[in-house]
Amino acid sequence: MKIDVNHITMIYPSGKKALQDVSLSAESPSFIGVLGPNGAGKTTLMKLLIVGLLPTKGEILLNNKNLLSQEKYLKSQLGYLPQSFGLYDELTVWQFLDYMAALKNIKDSKAISEVLERTNMTEQKKIRIRNLSGGQRQRIGIAQALLGNPQLIILDEPTVGLDPEERVKFRNIFSEMAQDKIILLSTHIVEDVQAVCNRVLVIHDGLILFDGTPSTLIAQAENHVGIYHAQLGDAVPDGCQIVSKVHTADGIRTRIIAEHPPPYAQPSEPTLEDAYLYCIHNPAGNPFGCTVNCNVRENPGEEMHA
Ligand SMILES: Nc1ncnc2c1ncn2[C@@H]1O[C@H](COP(=O)(O)OP(=O)(O)O)[C@@H](O)[C@H]1O
Ligand SMILES: [Mg+2]
Repeated sequence: MKIDVNHITMIYPSGKKALQDVSLSAESPSFIGVLGPNGAGKTTLMKLLIVGLLPTKGEILLNNKNLLSQEKYLKSQLGYLPQSFGLYDELTVWQFLDYMAALKNIKDSKAISEVLERTNMTEQKKIRIRNLSGGQRQRIGIAQALLGNPQLIILDEPTVGLDPEERVKFRNIFSEMAQDKIILLSTHIVEDVQAVCNRVLVIHDGLILFDGTPSTLIAQAENHVGIYHAQLGDAVPDGCQIVSKVHTADGIRTRIIAEHPPPYAQPSEPTLEDAYLYCIHNPAGNPFGCTVNCNVRENPGEEMHA
């Protein structure tokens, strides 16, 4: 399978430009992490890929043919987990998956047992959806996306609301499904991407700021990460963005990213999280620190680990 997104611009009827001249190509096998802050345009991109929205400009090709002319084929190959979806509370897990299988024209109930097995939900198959925990509901969301072994899997923030242990379990499920498919997984949690994706897209304000391997993204932040000890009340040095702060006996151990870290900061190897923050706070062509969201969060790193 091959997807080409060619110069897509999406302007909502309200006038909001959610994506601007976005292009990308993907061929199976690919596991692409779509990283970006809230409002970046991740969900919009995913809805365009499933023909839930029509682009204002540009086109999307599936196997070199216009996506719109192949909606039926797309639906037969698609597994989609929307960012928020209604489950049918009164149905049991099995009944819900049976219903979703019917919508996908899947007749063999083996398909249901298979996805229950893969998401580790076999034991819960007779439980009503309203009685499931948040993590179990997400697992059922993933299970329905996997029904029928689709070749294109689109997961919009699948790990939101899960505790760290559940997130690890999910990553294992994702890695297992990656071999022969195109998987797009959107998240604002960097660790999700680090663990499973061989490619990362960074989206910010409707623009793709980065498209490449996680290690290439990390390399871009080389020499732009530093650590120093601050005292309570110290101002953030000009042009620096704080990644994390830890109170220690020597003061506040402060990790920053900057185009030019101050000379007193000890250089540090960038993590993927540093690199992501460096990327969204320092879009090519703009001087560091001049993006709109720069000062919204005092400590974006904390949110990343939340
Ligand atoms: N139906 C809509 N009408 C108008 N604006 C929208 C609509 N859906 C999303 N937006 C706006 O488009 C931008 C991108 O949204 P979205 O794709 O949901 O971002 P993300 O998934 O990265 O959080 C945001 O500014 C959002 O408020
Ligand atoms: Mg979203």
